[in-house]
Amino acid sequence: MELSRRTFTTLSVLTATAAAGFSRPASAATGTATPPTADGAAHSVTFDKYSMLVDGERVVLWSGEVHPFRLPSPSLWRDVLQKLRAHGYNAISIYVSWNFHSPAPGVYDFTGVRDLDLFLRTAAECGLYVIARPGPYINAEVDAGGFPGWLTVTPGTARTSNATYLSHVDEYLTAVNEIISRHQYTSGDGTVVLYQLENEYASYVTSATGKDYMAHLYAKVRADGIDVPLFHNDKGRNGYWVPGAFSTGDESGRYLYAFDGYPSPSATPYDWGYYGGTVGSQASPDTPGFIAESGGGWFDPWGGAPFGGKGYAAVRASRDAAFERRQYLTHLANGIKIHNVYMTYGGTSWGWLPAPVVYTSYDYGAALDEGRGLTEKLVPMHQIGQLLASAPELAKLDKAADVTVSGLKVYHLTHPDTGAHVYVVRNDTSTPVTSPLPFTLAEGAGVTAPVTVGGKDAKLIAAGLKVGRTTVAYSTVQPMLGVSAGRRDIVVFAGRAGEAAQAAFSCDGEPKAVVLDGAATASCADGLLTVSTELAGLVRVSVDDSLLVLFADDAASARLWRHDTPSGTVLVRGPALLRTARLEGATAHLEGDTVTEADLEVWAPRGVREVMWNGRPVRVRTTDSGSLAATRALPGVAPVRLPALTGWRHRAENPESEPGFDDADWTVADKASSYSTTAVPAGGPVLFADDYGFHYGDVWYRGSFDDASGLDSVGLAYITGTQGLLMAWLDGKPLGTHRMPVPTSAQSTTGTWTATATFAVPDELRTTGGHVLSVLVRRMQHDEDGGARDSHKAARGLVSSSLTDVTWRIQGLRTADSDPVRGPLNCGGLYGERHGWHLPGAEASGAEGWEPVSFPVSAQRQGVDWYRTSFRLAVDHDVDASIGITLTDDATRAYRVQLFVNGWNMGQYINDVGPQHTFAVPNGILRTRGRNTLALAVLCDGTAPAGPGAVELTLLGSAAGGVRVAPVESPELPSGR
Ligand code: GAL
Repeated sequence: MELSRRTFTTLSVLTATAAAGFSRPASAATGTATPPTADGAAHSVTFDKYSMLVDGERVVLWSGEVHPFRLPSPSLWRDVLQKLRAHGYNAISIYVSWNFHSPAPGVYDFTGVRDLDLFLRTAAECGLYVIARPGPYINAEVDAGGFPGWLTVTPGTARTSNATYLSHVDEYLTAVNEIISRHQYTSGDGTVVLYQLENEYASYVTSATGKDYMAHLYAKVRADGIDVPLFHNDKGRNGYWVPGAFSTGDESGRYLYAFDGYPSPSATPYDWGYYGGTVGSQASPDTPGFIAESGGGWFDPWGGAPFGGKGYAAVRASRDAAFERRQYLTHLANGIKIHNVYMTYGGTSWGWLPAPVVYTSYDYGAALDEGRGLTEKLVPMHQIGQLLASAPELAKLDKAADVTVSGLKVYHLTHPDTGAHVYVVRNDTSTPVTSPLPFTLAEGAGVTAPVTVGGKDAKLIAAGLKVGRTTVAYSTVQPMLGVSAGRRDIVVFAGRAGEAAQAAFSCDGEPKAVVLDGAATASCADGLLTVSTELAGLVRVSVDDSLLVLFADDAASARLWRHDTPSGTVLVRGPALLRTARLEGATAHLEGDTVTEADLEVWAPRGVREVMWNGRPVRVRTTDSGSLAATRALPGVAPVRLPALTGWRHRAENPESEPGFDDADWTVADKASSYSTTAVPAGGPVLFADDYGFHYGDVWYRGSFDDASGLDSVGLAYITGTQGLLMAWLDGKPLGTHRMPVPTSAQSTTGTWTATATFAVPDELRTTGGHVLSVLVRRMQHDEDGGARDSHKAARGLVSSSLTDVTWRIQGLRTADSDPVRGPLNCGGLYGERHGWHLPGAEASGAEGWEPVSFPVSAQRQGVDWYRTSFRLAVDHDVDASIGITLTDDATRAYRVQLFVNGWNMGQYINDVGPQHTFAVPNGILRTRGRNTLALAVLCDGTAPAGPGAVELTLLGSAAGGVRVAPVESPELPSGR
């Protein structure tokens, strides 16, 4: 029967009371929804074979990976974490990158943008559990996989039980654990509930070297006061480092097995646990299924052959919302109860953070994009995360009898105590399939109903599952959440627009069902009230005024926000984001974001009559849905106007190439031996930049020699990592630029990836008498050491030259002396960097040398040029504008640019390689109300005309709302450590 407001009375064959009609259980039992806080109370964090247990209550961890070091603006940590919590995540997982915190042995810095303590406090304030992953090795597409530059010049093989290596590790762990241990949920001083040892350690799995290493890390971490369960992330489901694989002293039950998986988007999702699959699927039967990294996107390589990065839009398109549903619901079906998606907010590998395999953006195609924008990939995460919080039975499921349905893969599970049945239904074909699915109802009876799953998609449906306080007898559409507000229970179902949806509830008599919004039918038979609809916007059906059933299509579900407050739960509909909700007397204080004009509707506990939105009252009426509502009451975001970048000034660089340049204070490169994995050439000297303390960015060499008569050419062997280059000058005359050929994968992992640049010597310079060969090497970064092969110790810089009787001097930015505020990875050793040309105050101390210039620039010279300008922004206080800088030019021009915003190195642009053109700049570093400086350090090959071409500000997204952003400290002038 079609129901509408006008016709509902035809069905009102009433039942006297709600109790006689729709069955409503007495207990709430929604413990997993309660967000954790740093409440100062002791908590137990344990696990059994099904799930984690926090204070004895089951919790499915629904986690997203976020790297604090990839968002260098501490205020914005809150923005990202609030967005995740609002979208149903109850946990985050973080790496700590050792190199980010340690410019020199024994020096550790956790201040400013490196303030781990503040990050962990913010996570607790946002109600998120934390999985801490401090390494010491992390991989993560960062320089040397997280190892500090100075570790590349120490003896002893890293990632083994070598005593020297372990002494450095211990020093780091002492520093980082001092902070992490203060934020454990066990003491109630924070929300850290799990801690990872090492990262994807697949070396020496069966030998003492590996076992001793893991045992050492375990003992050290425990000695540092970490008392939450520990784990390691096996690189695949290999069964490596399961409990018992290495010594954990006399402890048991406090270490779990986890593994990582990065499935190809074109592959059928793998089975991991209950349903078998690969080798180690039963490797650890007594610990819960735990995916420490489930690939939610992928990293993108530099553009051009042979790897050809295409940009992150392509990654996001190939691993879209349907990919997430297929993968992650398959994981849940396989018994995974600790689930972390790598990445959920990727952010930016700013400065010299990126490993050679990636460029600056680490957007990763993640659910939250690099500019902190909400993407459609958050919608399934929201739907599943909210469901896990509303349906505690999902934390304890066993495999049940096989169910076979034509055209669909069905995983059938059941709760051993309550008898709830869960079905993960997946369509591995490209076209939608509708098939009758036989549900087993809680009492053992059966009912068959048609279930539709879109092409390459999946859904989780259930029978007899309690969602909030409502037991869903069965549904063909995925339940999303259940809350109680006032006198009503609310249950929400969500799915794709246009899909047929059916939900049934047990009833005694004949309940009164009223369609409040949209089109739906209801029928009552055999003790079941069945409501059917087609998903379109938000369909509302009220049952006996005690249950409100909401059917949301994806778009409508993305506007529904559940928030738990100490005095009850609120459900909010309308805004683009609900950040916080606080109940005070009769008023609900809500804070959040809007992009376009939006409704505001609030279901709140009894007695709440007024609503404040972002500090302003909203005039609400009560509705027949039991809510307080106001139509189109929330304004959208005001337009954001960005200025054109004009007023450029230019200054040329590289005095180091001039023969008369005074290099007396440069270091003489005269070492005879090195701990590098690159062989020192016979007779030396060592030219590797790391051996002289220059670990990041550009490095200069000046070789003085007497006799160039008869010298036809010079050969320079060098190593840089992907996309590096070398430029040479003899007596100030350019000899040319050599670009490091992009290595094959094999070369890049063996550390033998050396190129030789050979330059002809001009006739007029083939003379006796003093000569100077000046060489600039753009090093990219150190290799990651995924295999415990010390590949981070492969040399960077010059390796050898064909010259004899030469004295080499070397100069760069000594990492131990790096900017104490912006950190060790902000700068390299260009003349301008060494003299603060990238800093806001560069011109204040002397504007001489800076000449006006307008873009596009077209010059063909080998060397380094700097361009600076300043601009003012005046973004409204209540607008969160995410802004980037975009560079575009004719792609044949061979030049590259480092972008410094207020002195912060926001990344590297390579005009003829790509694919990245837009560089996100986090607010805080960017003053959205005030003056900013932009400095571009441009390296021109000399092989083609160079730019810059067009340089513009780009609006990546905007919203009314946002968080309060404190300016990130940005010293105007150089200040050494
Ligand atoms: C994993 C590794 C991560 C990251 C990821 C790819 O194997 O643990 O650190 O490198 O691959 O993005």
